[in-house]
Amino acid sequence: MKEIVFILLLLTFAVSEAGASIKGTPHDVNVMRNSGKELETCAMCHTPHSSVDATPLWDRHQLPQNYAMYESPTFDMNEQKELQPPSTYCMTCHNGVSSGLVNYPGPGSKINPLYNISDNDSLFSAFSNMGTDLKNNHPVSFTYDPSLDVDNNGFPYPRPVGAGGGKAVVGSRGKYPLYGAGGDQFECSTCHDVHNTVDYAGKGLAKKESSGRQIYFLRADNSGSGMCTDCHVNR
Ligand code: HEC
Ligand code: HEC
Ligand code: HEC
Ligand code: HEC
Repeated sequence: MKEIVFILLLLTFAVSEAGASIKGTPHDVNVMRNSGKELETCAMCHTPHSSVDATPLWDRHQLPQNYAMYESPTFDMNEQKELQPPSTYCMTCHNGVSSGLVNYPGPGSKINPLYNISDNDSLFSAFSNMGTDLKNNHPVSFTYDPSLDVDNNGFPYPRPVGAGGGKAVVGSRGKYPLYGAGGDQFECSTCHDVHNTVDYAGKGLAKKESSGRQIYFLRADNSGSGMCTDCHVNR
């Protein structure tokens, strides 16, 4: 009996290990910059005060951009919305346009260029730069409503998670959170978790990763396209 409890504990530990921290990943400013200083990992994206938006205490700003959104005759949940947060927040780094902080760490929020990303920055040559044309990407910033799908994808109905009014699509591989005031908006973070590094072998080297495992910040292991079929159940 004791042994079983011990093994269960070990398993729990192994599972929670899969959700390792953002520290040391390509989203850690200390990995982006070889500055020789210990920069503040979270400050690259969040600030405890004076944030641009209440959730998730966002610290990066950029001039508003116009994004071309995904279109398709079989896209039934299509609403032709503008790109919404938190997807716009991803794009402050992944669209090839300069961005800086609202509130720099340290006294008086003195500008520290190490936290800025400028369009002449050598970082951009290493970036996954998606530009502002999102037509060739999985649709985002639409209301997730399985009742509108006429193509029989078998999308699961979202379930409430937590007490804050949030909802998520729950599949066999993982949980895919929805965003916005109604907790029903599909965004980049529905598939990606910027903080975590669910990884799986066999997809080649992710940039700046030496372990030979894929990183991609996915919500779930996508080997065998298992993440895709958590939502597109009948495909
Ligand atoms: C590269 C940008 C980035 C960095 C760096 C980052 N975050 Fe986030 N964080 C986000 C985005 C985008 C969201 C909103 C999407 C989501 O909930 O995943 C978020 C959401 C959150 C949330 C609310 C949702 C949740 O997962 O609990 C917390 C808490 C949070 N971040 C804490 C942190 C802390 C603490 C650090 C530093 C150790 C950190 N973040 C570093 C981008 C970042
Ligand atoms: C502070 C800037 C910043 C923000 C904000 C940011 N990223 Fe990144 N991201 C990077 C950098 C730098 C890398 C490493 C270089 C690269 O691969 O693009 C990276 C890498 C990635 C990768 C892995 C790419 C690869 O080939 O290894 C994914 C996936 C990704 N980001 C998704 C997101 C998503 C989704 C969001 C929003 C939820 C986001 N990022 C927000 C800076 C950022
Ligand atoms: C339907 C799920 C899904 C959505 C929504 C999604 N992604 Fe991804 N993303 C993925 C998967 C899966 C990969 C890994 C691609 C692969 O296997 O080649 C990926 C890869 C990436 C990469 C690395 C690309 C590369 O070639 O290095 C970046 C950066 C990225 N996503 C950012 C974003 C941003 C920003 C958004 C929102 C505008 C977004 N993603 C929306 C599933 C998604
Ligand atoms: C969290 C749920 C979810 C995940 C995970 C997901 N999708 Fe989707 N996907 C959707 C929804 C919802 C739509 C919009 C469907 C509609 O309205 O017709 C969509 C749209 C699409 C479309 C365009 C459909 C059209 O009619 O134009 C394709 C193709 C697609 N997804 C492929 C993928 C692939 C490949 C993956 C895995 C990398 C994936 N999806 C992961 C929910 C998801």
